[in-house]
Amino acid sequence: MKYLVICISTFLFCTFTSSNGAPSVSTLSACLTKQGVRNFTASQSTSFSAVLDFSVQNLRFTEAGVGHPALIVLPTTTQEVQKAWTCIRQGGWASRVRCGGHSYEGLSYTSSAPFVIIDLMNMHKITVDARGRTVWVEAGARTGELYSAVAAASSNTLGLSAGTCATIGMSGHIMGGGYGMLSRKYGVAADSVLEAQVITANGTLINRVSTADPDLFWALRGGGGGAWGIVTAWKLKLVSVPSTLTTFNVWRTGKQALTDLVFKWQNVAPQAPPELFLSLYMAGINTGGSADVGASFYGQYWGSIEETLALFNKIYPELALTASNCKQGNWIQAVANIAGVSGPSALVDRQQSSRNYFKAKSDYVSTPLTKVALAGAFDVLMKNTKGWIIFEPYGGVMSQISSSAIAFPHRAGRLFMVQYQAVWQDDTNSPDSELIGWLRGLYSYMSPFVTYTPSRTTYVNYIDLDLGDSVTAGKSYFGSNFARLVKIKARFDPTNVFNQPQSVPVSM
Ligand SMILES: Cc1cc2nc3c(=O)[nH]c(=O)nc-3n(C[C@H](O)[C@H](O)[C@H](O)COP(=O)(O)OP(=O)(O)OC[C@H]3O[C@@H](n4cnc5c(N)ncnc54)[C@H](O)[C@@H]3O)c2cc1C
Ligand SMILES: *[C@@H]1O[C@H](CO)[C@@H](O)[C@H](O)[C@H]1NC(C)=O
Ligand SMILES: *[C@@H]1O[C@H](CO)[C@@H](O)[C@H](O)[C@H]1NC(C)=O
Repeated sequence: MKYLVICISTFLFCTFTSSNGAPSVSTLSACLTKQGVRNFTASQSTSFSAVLDFSVQNLRFTEAGVGHPALIVLPTTTQEVQKAWTCIRQGGWASRVRCGGHSYEGLSYTSSAPFVIIDLMNMHKITVDARGRTVWVEAGARTGELYSAVAAASSNTLGLSAGTCATIGMSGHIMGGGYGMLSRKYGVAADSVLEAQVITANGTLINRVSTADPDLFWALRGGGGGAWGIVTAWKLKLVSVPSTLTTFNVWRTGKQALTDLVFKWQNVAPQAPPELFLSLYMAGINTGGSADVGASFYGQYWGSIEETLALFNKIYPELALTASNCKQGNWIQAVANIAGVSGPSALVDRQQSSRNYFKAKSDYVSTPLTKVALAGAFDVLMKNTKGWIIFEPYGGVMSQISSSAIAFPHRAGRLFMVQYQAVWQDDTNSPDSELIGWLRGLYSYMSPFVTYTPSRTTYVNYIDLDLGDSVTAGKSYFGSNFARLVKIKARFDPTNVFNQPQSVPVSM
């Protein structure tokens, strides 16, 4: 495809119709209108920036030089997605599908080639069958609104295992796995998928992927977003949640004390009963002009505050958790506490109140880090107060599910997942490159201590363009499942119509 239309003015948009197949916005608009797809906005429209911005979670991709779409279409039904897709394909456009826009690298709303976004935000209907313990959820729904609907429809008896932040889009999340507070008990969000509906490259809707194409169904559950057609709805299995949970958060400081505490954490959190989820956030801090480390030990336990304290007293007395660090409530209250929102009613807010510029990287650890290794990581953290490391425990049921059960591969043997983040508000004081360089240095420091299968093992939902092209990155994200994913991709989408820079390729 040649793109012969060149925009020479930033004010005039090219509405050039050409006969050689170069993408034209006016042709696309006309097609959408003719097909009865009413809600779309082109880049010269006054409503365009607000629609584009609504689901931009990483402000790094609002900066100059980032490729924006020529048009955003906001379908309300599966049929409209199909019609929009047909117009987009006929017009020769590249495309991106956007659900919650939480891609760490902005891959649902940026591209270097002229492109169109299919934004699913208007498709978020949730239909709970509490008796059957299932839910049908349209592909544009977010975690928080789904959690709320499930809790409300089941009188707080059912829940769902997925991520901790309330604004994550369910589709991108499931397609990368989806890890959260219930994962040691019930697995990742992708483990709970019972059915999916998908639109393929030629515009066909597959209504029941699980039986129509079991390989594709396998790939959808953890094989990464942006490679496998357009998912329009998911059917998920719901899980029992207790009537009383305790969430806790305790802050400790001091490099020496934390070296000991975190060393011990590695033997506590991954081995604990699956009803306990004990995460760890570690950051460089500045106390009275001198650099140090602070850490938050946070999570939840299925039980009262008293039962939580009794458990910690037995397995982790060094943490000295007290009742004042704890809050007791039902599951949806726990979800709101962990998400850091004001209360359960705020879980339906589809946009996060504060957004940042950030860059992140991930790892897995299978052998506990030595105290020397930990102290070295703290030294790197202490050089910067705009970055942190998060450890999230694995173990529990995660170790019992086969690593080839679904495309998401990270199972037995992983003690915990590591996430490194550099986060900032504006780029005036420290340029992006400085913070990103620091983050890469931290990742490089950690290289001797982490898991390789055989590539350095990473989590596709913490997508990281530093990992390289789709083959190199794919080996890192999917390990031993990568070869099967490539085969499925080659059969399902041989011309790689559905792609982003690190989507599963058609050959290795
Ligand atoms: C603040 C924040 C908190 C997070 N917390 C967690 C957490 O607790 N646990 C965890 O596991 N992860 C977490 N993540 C990571 C998150 O799971 C991934 O970023 C996820 O891919 C986001 O999904 P999305 O739909 O919001 O993103 P999008 O940017 O909309 O999509 C991500 C990718 O999926 C594709 N895609 C989206 N919808 C569809 C569809 N319907 N059909 C086909 N392709 C589609 C997109 O094209 C893109 O390639 C967090 C991310 C952020 C920013
Ligand atoms: C299109 O969808 C957006 C997002 O929901 C909404 O704000 C807007 O009002 C809709 N426009 C039309 C014309 O329906
Ligand atoms: C469209 O693609 C699907 C799945 O790849 C295939 O089963 C179907 O036969 C194709 N239909 C047409 C009309 O080409």
